[in-house]
Amino acid sequence: MAATEQEVSFDRNELIITKTDLQGKITYANRTFMRVANYVEADLLGRDHNLIRHPSMPRGVFYGLWHALKSGTEFFGFVKNYTSDKNYYWVFANITPDRIGTDVVGFYSVRRVAPKDAVQTIEGIYQKMRELEQATERKQAPEVSWRWLVDLIHQQYHMEYEEYIIDLYQQHRSD
Ligand SMILES: Cc1cc2nc3c(=O)[nH]c(=O)nc-3n(C[C@H](O)[C@H](O)[C@H](O)COP(=O)(O)O)c2cc1C
Repeated sequence: MAATEQEVSFDRNELIITKTDLQGKITYANRTFMRVANYVEADLLGRDHNLIRHPSMPRGVFYGLWHALKSGTEFFGFVKNYTSDKNYYWVFANITPDRIGTDVVGFYSVRRVAPKDAVQTIEGIYQKMRELEQATERKQAPEVSWRWLVDLIHQQYHMEYEEYIIDLYQQHRSD
């Protein structure tokens, strides 16, 4: 990670919203997304959402995300993203299947400011997930680190992942 990366902030009552197709290609982005991530619409539409992936995000988090979406359920998580000029911003994201009737036609994500103390906690956890991923055979690594996270939360907090992560957000939301 370059030492020159700067954190970009946005207001706590703003929402960063994008929609994707079933493959995760961007089909819509709101103005807040474009401002914070520093993109114009033409450079976003049709691009894979991993466009803004920050290299310090563990692969296991995206394993958990896609696993939930493919099972038809929503996902909550803390995500660090790159801006187009290689700065970064942290969000608390809720990603949900986008349905027309009973058919899932894509997904959308609504993101809020991630409270600083929650980010501090999650950064420590993500660091351990990345270490585990580096020590694991490449193909298995995302699933192994995701299972490690779920087990850690079971053992330490006696909670499911979703309950823990929403709790972490809510505890610090008014910091
Ligand atoms: C609606 C939606 C929103 C997403 N938002 C992000 C995001 O903000 N940042 C991100 O890195 N990945 C996001 N993803 C996940 C990406 O599609 C991708 O799985 C992730 O960046 C990892 O990419 P990689 O496996 O190619 O490294 C989103 C996926 C969906 C369906």
